[in-house]
Formats: sequence, C-alpha cells, structure tokens
Amino acid sequence: MQPLHTLPTTQTSSYAPLAVVLHWTLAVLIIGMIPLGWYMMEIEDDPGSAWFFNLHKSIGLVLAGLVLLRLLWRLGHSPAPLPASVAPWQATASKAGHWLLYAAMIAMPAFGIIGSLLTERGIVFFGIPLPSVLQANHDLAELFFEAHSVTTWILIGLVTVHALAGLKHLLIDKDGVFQRMWFSR
Ligand code: HEM
Ligand code: HEM
Repeated sequence: MQPLHTLPTTQTSSYAPLAVVLHWTLAVLIIGMIPLGWYMMEIEDDPGSAWFFNLHKSIGLVLAGLVLLRLLWRLGHSPAPLPASVAPWQATASKAGHWLLYAAMIAMPAFGIIGSLLTERGIVFFGIPLPSVLQANHDLAELFFEAHSVTTWILIGLVTVHALAGLKHLLIDKDGVFQRMWFSR
C-alpha cells in the first residue's frame, strides 16, 4: 500500500460528500454514546445491564471503524483555506480544535476497547464474542476505564466549543463556513 504521506492531497472549497456523511454520522453516534454510557453505569448492577453494555461496545466498535476511515480520508484531503473574513487566530484555533477532536475521537473508543479486552467479559459484537486477545487484569482495566471516563469530559468540552463556533458561522457571521460541512453551498 502507498505510504500515507505520499497520498495525493486535493483541495476543495467544501468537504466532499463522504466527509460530510462521516462527520454527521459520527456526530450523532458519538453524542448518543455518552448518555448510553452514563445510563449503563447507573444500572450496572441490575439484571439485564449486560445488554446495554454489549450495545455500547458494539456501536463503539462500528464507530471506531468509521473514525479510522475518516482519519485516512482526511490525511489524503486537506480542506481549502477558510474565507479571508475569518480572523487568523480563529483559523488557527479551528485547526487545533479539529485535530484535538480527532485525538479525542481516537482515544475514546481505544480506551474503551482496551479496557474491555482486559476484563473477563471481553467484547460481544452484536452477539458474536470476540477473541480475548489480552489477559484479564482488573486493575489495568479500571485504569483504562478511568481514562475513558475523563476523556468523555474533554470530548464534551471540545464538541461544545466546536458546535458553538459552527453555529456562530451559520447564524451570526453567515460566511458559508457552516455550509462547507453540508451538502450544498
Ligand atoms: C466515542 C465512543 C465512545 C463514547 C463517547 C463512550 C462513552 C462512554 C461513557 C460516557 C461512559 C460512562 C463513563 C462513566 O460514567 O464512568 C462509558 C463507559 C464505558 N464504555 Fe464507552 N464510549 C465510547 C466507546 C466505547 C467502546 C468502543 C467501548 C468498548 C468496545 C466502550 C466500553 C465502555 C465500557 C466497558 C464502559 C464501562 C466502564 C466502567 O465499567 O467503568 N466504550 N463510555
Ligand atoms: C461529536 C460531535 C462532533 C465531532 C467529533 C466533530 C468533529 C469535527 C472535525 C474533526 C472537523 C474537521 C473536519 C476535517 O477537517 O477533517 C469538523 C468540521 C466541522 N464541524 Fe464538526 N464535529 C462534531 C459536531 C458538530 C456539530 C454539532 C456542528 C454544528 C453545529 C459541527 C459543525 C462543523 C462544521 C461547520 C465543520 C467545518 C468547519 C470548516 O469548514 O473548517 N460539528 N467537525
């Protein structure tokens, strides 16, 4: 396979339909996973909670695959520069924010997957038990789940600022930046 850094880089004025579909699909899945995670922790000791844990892990695995696909696509496609009306500090903040969002989108499922593989229960993907590739280790699993829990708040902070910035472009600046991540301009 061709090394990533030699993949051709294309520049377009708005994101490609694939990037837009992945952005909004992932936004819905990631935001939905947070209340699901909190809910299953609430009912952790109840009979039937395993169904919710398995659902969370299964959706999380699909989501992790989509994040990887999105990251691969992104490494080969740079977005066009923002309009000149966007202040340079805002353009820098936007770029930094987007890479932090990618980092959180990778870290979040990675901590969940590793933590789960370190438990006796492992991962059951929509009814199919996945091979336990790691030896169960309760203390280490707890460490990864703690990181999973802390990253939730980092993700919430980043997404809140990001969504507010997006809405500011749409409703106040009306500069077409929001439409870059939509299907028409
Ligand atoms: C972006 C994706 C994900 C989000 C937003 C997310 C969100 C959450 C949240 C909010 C919690 C509750 C944390 C707490 O209150 O302590 C949680 C717990 C948990 N998540 Fe995820 N999760 C994601 C992906 C995954 C994946 C891929 C797996 C495993 C395959 C996973 C496995 C778990 C497990 C096992 C717990 C319970 C941890 C414990 O017992 O302390 N999560 N998740
Ligand atoms: C979990 C939720 C979300 C995540 C993880 C996320 C992540 C990202 C990332 C990483 C980018 C950069 C795309 C790239 O260059 O590859 C981006 C762009 C964008 N996002 Fe989100 N996003 C989320 C939710 C939202 C929401 C709710 C809105 C709307 C209010 C929004 C509006 C936008 C817009 C308008 C862009 C394009 C910005 C530009 O043209 O530079 N996003 N998002």
